[in-house]
Amino acid sequence: MKTGKLKTAKLAFLVSLALTVAAQAQETPKGDAKNGEMLFKRNGCYQCHGTQGAGASTGPAIGQKPTAIPWVVFSNEVRNPVDQMPPYSSKVVSDQELADIFAYTLTFPGPVTKADAKGLLDR
Ligand code: HEC
Repeated sequence: MKTGKLKTAKLAFLVSLALTVAAQAQETPKGDAKNGEMLFKRNGCYQCHGTQGAGASTGPAIGQKPTAIPWVVFSNEVRNPVDQMPPYSSKVVSDQELADIFAYTLTFPGPVTKADAKGLLDR
């Protein structure tokens, strides 16, 4: 039954494709920023990104407005970092915990802008 096998393989491919698309189109999950703050500390994120996510020599600024990255990019990076960052599997940081951390990073004040700096200088 050659055709039968082929059909099954095709179907399996289409199903996996549909699942991938569905996962990518996933809405930003609801997170608890308060719990995220605790997790950001517990998992050592702050050691490389700073307590307010302003970044340091050890890691880039994260969750800063207006350059905040979307959930898909955020979760992808934490699970499969592109370079130096250690990966965090769902065994270490669950999906809900990651959503909480993401919510917390959205509360960061953001970089000091030129306008802010001018305001400080004018005083
Ligand atoms: C050992 C240092 C280190 C730790 C700990 C760390 N990171 Fe990172 N992170 C990095 C570095 C370096 C990068 C730059 C890209 C890379 O190396 O993958 C990065 C990149 C990122 C990015 C992508 C930023 C962007 O705009 O491209 C996010 C989001 C992020 N980290 C979140 C986290 C979270 C959340 C945690 C804690 C669960 C964490 N990181 C822990 C070093 C770290």
